Amino acid sequence: MKTVELAFDLLAKGGRPVECCVRGVKIVEDDPNDMSVGYGGLPNEDGVIQLDSACMDGPLHRAGAVGCIENIKNPASVALEVLRHTDHVMLVGEGATRFAVRMGFKEEDLNTEKSRKAWKRWRANLNPGDKWLDKDQIINFPEPWRQGDASGGAGTRGAGTRGTGTRGTGFQPVGGKPFHSTGDDFDHIALDSFGNPHTYGTIHCSATNADQDVGCCTTTSGLSWKLPGRVGDSPLIGAGLYCDNAVGSAGATGRGESVIQTLGSFWIVEAMAGGMSPTEACLAACKRIVDRTHEPRMFDDNKRPRFSVTFYAVRKDGAYGTASILKGGHAAVCVGEGATRVRSEFLYE
Ligand code: GLY
Repeated sequence: MKTVELAFDLLAKGGRPVECCVRGVKIVEDDPNDMSVGYGGLPNEDGVIQLDSACMDGPLHRAGAVGCIENIKNPASVALEVLRHTDHVMLVGEGATRFAVRMGFKEEDLNTEKSRKAWKRWRANLNPGDKWLDKDQIINFPEPWRQGDASGGAGTRGAGTRGTGTRGTGFQPVGGKPFHSTGDDFDHIALDSFGNPHTYGTIHCSATNADQDVGCCTTTSGLSWKLPGRVGDSPLIGAGLYCDNAVGSAGATGRGESVIQTLGSFWIVEAMAGGMSPTEACLAACKRIVDRTHEPRMFDDNKRPRFSVTFYAVRKDGAYGTASILKGGHAAVCVGEGATRVRSEFLYE
């Protein structure tokens, strides 16, 4: 709520939409109690917090992004400096951190006592290869050119050595929104079936101003316990965010892999250009994901997706909408005095 209120306030003072969004999400990046974004976010498999973020400016159609940046609290602000100071769009890893330091950002440990505790708990409960697919889930393409191997299925390098099935079943990550509470330290975060905090949690902010110029920003600590080096949708232009000054702006939270593989935010902006309302476009983008998800592991026995994505869209004239795959998504909207909370339309209860 505070993010959009600040962004709105700065817009009303004549701020550039992209910069207002970046300043708005900084509130959440700085918050040690938010375990899905910035400082105190949930770390990767090695216990290291790697952050992803991007921003995009409508009037210039220019973007800046950082992926897997470490030790810098405000990746969205670094992404804005990439946009402002370089001819590039994206910096990753050590290069991104070095760039941030050159731009005056402070290097610091982003783990908090709480995020470290969550990581230790996850390590104690799950095997170290948890983000690898289980043996029966590995994708083997047929290799008809191999002699004596009409059925394919050979070449599963390392199969059987990874992921021995200790991943929680029946777990449905819901974009970092609370849906389960243990009364432990982790009351405001989704928990898996072992009671471990787990999130794809992310913040996206889209804005349009009185001149109907648009801008947007997405920032995240990404999928918790991810493989080191994993980049989600948040810093990828067209996936976790996109804007077009002739149309509007869109962004995503939730399972980044699904958003990347459907270029969700780009598609929504194009769908709005074609005449869909923001809500229709967000819902249709959710349906595109489900229709293009073919692995049985992604669905439960009732064919309900085990994952969710929430999309947010703002048309340049101020119309807005949001939709999720699973019920439970929401957005904060500010069109004047104070922010209001809006429930996302959804495909599945
Ligand atoms: N949407 C955030 C992520 O998947 O990293």
